[in-house]
Amino acid sequence: MSSKFYITTALHYVNAEPHIGHAYETILGDVLCRYFRLFGHDVHFLTGVDEHGQKIVEAAAKSGCTPQQHCDILADRFREVWERLSIKPDVFFRTTNPQHKKFVQDILTKLNNQGDIYSANYSGWYCTPDERFWTDKDVVDGKCPTCGRPVEHLTEKNYFFRMSNHQKWLLEWIDSHPDFIKPESRKNEVLGFLKQPLGDLCISRPHSRLAWGIPLPFDTDYVTYVWFDALLNYLSATEIHKAEGFTPDLWPADLHLIGKDILTTHAVYWPTMLHAAGYEPPKTIFAHGWWLIDGGKMSKSVGNVIKPLDMVEKYGADAFRYVLMREMTPGQDATFSEEAFIKRYNTDLANDLGNLYSRLAKLWSSIRHETIPGAGTYQTGADFPSENLEKLKETVHQAILNFNPNLAIATLIGFVGELNELVQREKLWQDPASKRIYISSCLTALGEVARLLEPVMPIKMAKLRFLTHECRPESLFPRIEVKPKPTPPPAPPASGGEKNSSPSGGEEPSAAQSDEISIDEFARVDLRVGKVIKARRLENSDKLLVLKIEEGGGVRQIVAGIAKSYDPATLAGRSVVFVANLKPAKLRGEWSHGMILAASDGERHFIVAPEQSVESGSKVK
Ligand code: ME8
Ligand code: MG
Repeated sequence: MSSKFYITTALHYVNAEPHIGHAYETILGDVLCRYFRLFGHDVHFLTGVDEHGQKIVEAAAKSGCTPQQHCDILADRFREVWERLSIKPDVFFRTTNPQHKKFVQDILTKLNNQGDIYSANYSGWYCTPDERFWTDKDVVDGKCPTCGRPVEHLTEKNYFFRMSNHQKWLLEWIDSHPDFIKPESRKNEVLGFLKQPLGDLCISRPHSRLAWGIPLPFDTDYVTYVWFDALLNYLSATEIHKAEGFTPDLWPADLHLIGKDILTTHAVYWPTMLHAAGYEPPKTIFAHGWWLIDGGKMSKSVGNVIKPLDMVEKYGADAFRYVLMREMTPGQDATFSEEAFIKRYNTDLANDLGNLYSRLAKLWSSIRHETIPGAGTYQTGADFPSENLEKLKETVHQAILNFNPNLAIATLIGFVGELNELVQREKLWQDPASKRIYISSCLTALGEVARLLEPVMPIKMAKLRFLTHECRPESLFPRIEVKPKPTPPPAPPASGGEKNSSPSGGEEPSAAQSDEISIDEFARVDLRVGKVIKARRLENSDKLLVLKIEEGGGVRQIVAGIAKSYDPATLAGRSVVFVANLKPAKLRGEWSHGMILAASDGERHFIVAPEQSVESGSKVK
């Protein structure tokens, strides 16, 4: 079965170079497309640029070219950036496309003939950069309420679309189509807006004031309001598609991806325009949140604009796509910083994913030609990964149906963590030949993870999928070292018994690490003194204890592999030394926030403690 899936992003204004917000939206679109394709849909992906209007005229004037020249340059620029980000739209739409212009005029003619358009004198406060009128009560100190720039009082004849006629219908449509506006919070925002009577929409601009637009077919002294023109792109693209002989019919669109700032135009203006013109509304409008910089707005004047290509040059397209998808929950805002970017890269990609491959490849290479009698009968535990693969795939599928690649990725990387834990727990590096079933199953599971992450990281995951068969050495995601503000180190050796999930935390020598470390590297391990306030056995484990540790100002839980050497009842009140900045890990369903230090003679463990009593939280150096 294959069903049509038509997805669009907003059309980006070509008044400036593409920034991280544009990139996020378009990557989100591309990632969803690739997932829907993977799940068998016949996907059609549209992105593009919004080229008319005052903003563009101003940008063109600044760069000293005509609006058309300016649009040609910037449209190419957007296209080029998307290519570098591995974004593959089926259509890159431009609103200066002559077929689009004709389509917009045809719709205007139709609405005009139907009596859905009228002309009237309009007075109000006009904001030129935003191209919209405001009423007395909207204006704040003579300035535009949205952009803060001065407004001017204008009275002029304009044309209006009878949007108010469709308010009742729109409310009913929203009510009977629960998936129409997502997420729920945005739907409520629209419903709030619709509590007020809906006005009519001014859809014209006098040619004398703004020439760069689509002429109104019934009065060439006017051009079409840029939003009325731009919104129609989603539909005109399908008409062009049809006219070129392609099937299936793409309308109604399945998903419009937009940012939260353009919700009203998409969830109010657009459906009423469609309804008046006799078309169905799109199935879903999904409004994502905004990337903030240092918690504030990204802006040219502040000079904190993040350019996608800078990131691609430094970290590669796959890593950029991954981190953007991973760090933003669709629908919510997120803060971008390069520091957080690197941290996420190192944790998820270098440590978890890249390292898992390195260890498995090394193990497999060491045993692939050995055949050990009876190896195939190695006992598998209940949590053997192959049993989880179907569940994993289903979870990812569901997340994607909810347009939430963030959740899909978190699930997949969590599974990678489980595989790393399994490598540790079963000590696959000890006598690996006898554990070949485990090793090959982990490789199969990793191949499946790669397949399911390929929509996010198309280049590296295609490679990883291939590598899980090859098993040649390859550093997929080399760790990024940062100089002045270092990120936490790879996990140090665990205290014995069962191991922490961090891949470099075992006895197994890792290719990425050399044996010697510098004093600076050691200094990054935050060792602290703490006091055990409670200890208990972890159910179904003969090795693990769950400890509550007082650390001076707080209590943390640490799971420690010392159950064979210590009776939990004797531990309360004892001092321990623990690693305070170890990445938290889940061990048999319990979170461990750190690791206590213990000496080991290979059999028993001996807790390391300060020689005399010292305050909890004291640093160990
Ligand atoms: O609004 N974080 O174009 P645009 C996330 N041409 N997304 C962001 C963002 C940020 N910091 N900044 C902008 C337009 N966006 C119109 C659309 S559609 C027929 C016409 C998103 O270039 C923004 O929310 O100003 C919008 O969805 C998209 O980028 C284009 O913004
Ligand atoms: Mg904008």
